[in-house]
This record gives sequence, C-alpha cells and structure tokens, in this order.
Amino acid sequence: MRRIGVLTSGGDAPGMNAAVRAIVRGGVYNGLKVFGIQRGFEGLIHGEIKEMDVSSVADLIHRGGTVLRSARSKDFMTKEGQQKALDQIRAFGLDGIAIIGGDGSLKGGLCLAEAGIPVMGLPGTIDNDLGYTDFTIGFDTAVNTVLDAIGKIRDTSTSHDRCTVVEVMGRHCGDIAYYAGVAGGAEYILTSETEEDLNALCRKVIDGQKRGKLHSIIVRAEGCEISTAEVIKLLEQKTGMETRAVVLGYVQRGGSPSAQDRILASRMGYRAVELFLDNKRNRAVGVRGMDLIDLDLEEALKIQRKTNTELIKLADILSI
Ligand code: F6P
Repeated sequence: MRRIGVLTSGGDAPGMNAAVRAIVRGGVYNGLKVFGIQRGFEGLIHGEIKEMDVSSVADLIHRGGTVLRSARSKDFMTKEGQQKALDQIRAFGLDGIAIIGGDGSLKGGLCLAEAGIPVMGLPGTIDNDLGYTDFTIGFDTAVNTVLDAIGKIRDTSTSHDRCTVVEVMGRHCGDIAYYAGVAGGAEYILTSETEEDLNALCRKVIDGQKRGKLHSIIVRAEGCEISTAEVIKLLEQKTGMETRAVVLGYVQRGGSPSAQDRILASRMGYRAVELFLDNKRNRAVGVRGMDLIDLDLEEALKIQRKTNTELIKLADILSI
C-alpha cells in the first residue's frame, strides 16, 4: 500500500475538508503518496487526479464544502463508466481509494471493491442517515446551522404571535429535525416517523396558545409525506394562528465545520490511513459513542438507521 486516492462524493458536508486533510497528512506522515480525485466518481472516470502534499491541505480545516469538489455521476452507474474508473486507478497506480460521502457514494465504493480495489468508506453527509455509525461528518454543523436559524425565527414569531414551520434537510432521516428541534425548543418535530398523528400537532399548538405562548415553532423534516404548505394550511385552519414557512435548504450544507465535525473528520480520516497501512480493505469507518469503529463496508451499508424515539419523547414533554 504505497499510493492511495481520496475523493468526496454526493451532497457536500462541512468537515469533508478536514477528513481530506487528515488523509493527506496522515498518509504523507506514514510515507504514502496521496492523490486527490476531483469531482467524485465523475472526476475519477476522467482522470482528474493529482498528487497532494501537506501544503495542498494547508488552511483547510475550517473551510466548508470540499476542496476536491463533488458530483453525482450517472456514468459511474454504468459498467462502462466503472471500467473507465478502474482503468484510471490502474493508470495512476493507486493501491486503494478512500471515499468520503453518503450511502450512495459508499455503495459506489462497493463497485470498486468488487473489482478488487481496496476501499475505505467515511460517512460524509449532513443527513446522519447511515445506520452503522452514530454520527456522520457534517451532521453536527448542519444541526447548529438550523439551531441558529430557529433562534432568529423565535424572535420574529414572538413579535407577531405567529407559528412558523421550519423545513430542514436529511432526505428520509429525521435526525437533523430531532436534534435541532430539541436543542431549539421547538413545539413539535414533524418527520416521516411522527406525521401520522397531525391532530397531536394541532393540539400542541392550541394548548400552547391557551397557556399564553406567543409563538410556536414546528420543525419539519423534508422526508415527510405532508408538505410544508399543507402543514401551514392545516395549522391556520385548526389554530387560527398566522403561520409562515422557512425552508432552510442548502444553507444547511455550507459553513465552517463545528469543532465536533472537525475532530470527527480528522479522527476518521486518520483511521482510514491506519487501515490502509494495516493492509485492510473494504471497511466503513464510523463512530459509536466516543469510539471509532470500522466494519466490513458491505455489511455496514445494510444496517438500518434506528428511529430516535428518545428525542421524539423529549421534544413532546419539554414543549408543554
Ligand atoms: O444528502 C444531503 C442532501 O443535502 C439531502 O439532505 C438533500 O435532500 C439532498 O442532499 C439534496 O441533493 P442535491 O444537492 O443533489 O440537490
């Protein structure tokens, strides 16, 4: 194992750069040559590959986004595209590839693994939707971004006796909603796991009104069946409160990574280097509590995310 490649893929996440930095510096520290692959699997197919050294990742740990950029590659979904990627890996003499991305990107890594290329997968996505790890790189920063927005929304909702529905990302996972909702003191957290009882949502807001609450904040995960517009219509009809929407969208994907994400990404990036040095292959790096773990990549990707029942209950009780 002398020459490793690293790429970032899928939706970018704050902390990806910290992981790239750890892989490059950890690799160079241990005598490896490290090659940055631009634009994920798309750049791999086109040979957008360049050796990186310690100065390539200088002044990077605090920057959001990914210096290697990212792309969603349709070509890589084809056998021809995968063959082109393998040809490039061989042309550059890469002994292994580190992939930083979400479930789709790590599954892409499985295609390379099946062709005999040693792969290390790092969970880089704000969604926190990979069941094998407690946290993904970028999740903490996204939660703090939403929390900052909720604080600002609380001010104006109070001024105008309003109910505000804050829509957050996460694809089908409600974790951004649960964590930011509890931290932000939201009245209700609406996800695909809690949306079946919309009467409970309306009761919560009405009870709050009766208790003299001047505002209500509802956090809605984008994976819900019911749309933000439908929630607004329902609340205005059932509660009589003026209701507004805030869709945070791509704001959640940017920003300087939090200390937690920088440390998580640095730890995971260096663990990937250690696994390569131990001649391991096809491992998914994750975290359980405070401890780093690594699992067989294919097995890891089969583990389903558990619903955060504790935070659902906590949010309901603490918003009485
Ligand atoms: O996976 C990260 C994510 O931000 C999701 O939360 C969101 O639904 C999706 O990416 C948006 O995808 P795109 O960046 O391709 O529009």
